[in-house]
Amino acid sequence: MTYIISLPCVDIKDRACVEECPVDCIYEGDRMLYIHPEECVDCGACEPVCPVEAIYYEDDVPAEEAQFYDVNVQFFDEIGSPGGAAKLGPIPGDHPIVAALPPQEQ
Ligand code: F3S
Ligand code: F3S
Repeated sequence: MTYIISLPCVDIKDRACVEECPVDCIYEGDRMLYIHPEECVDCGACEPVCPVEAIYYEDDVPAEEAQFYDVNVQFFDEIGSPGGAAKLGPIPGDHPIVAALPPQEQ
């Protein structure tokens, strides 16, 4: 199981969640951040600190945000499991669904 990041993060990228994650499994793309589904330990620390409420436990994702489960998981298809976001740094690009979104309200 995992937590995921959804639409409200796009073009906002507050990054408060990154400071809370004890296993450094929240990775930065161009337009949003993504939680690694296998590195996440389901601690829940990230969820309450996001000011735009973009983070959900995978069983609690609202229907309108459901595609963001795949967005988070598939973002790592080619990246694999780096074992830490800080040492990797920002990752160029986004999941295709996110890359195709119009600019989001700031
Ligand atoms: Fe995004 Fe919220 Fe984290 S805006 S970067 S999910 S604190
Ligand atoms: Fe990290 Fe815990 Fe969230 S492991 S991604 S802070 S649920």
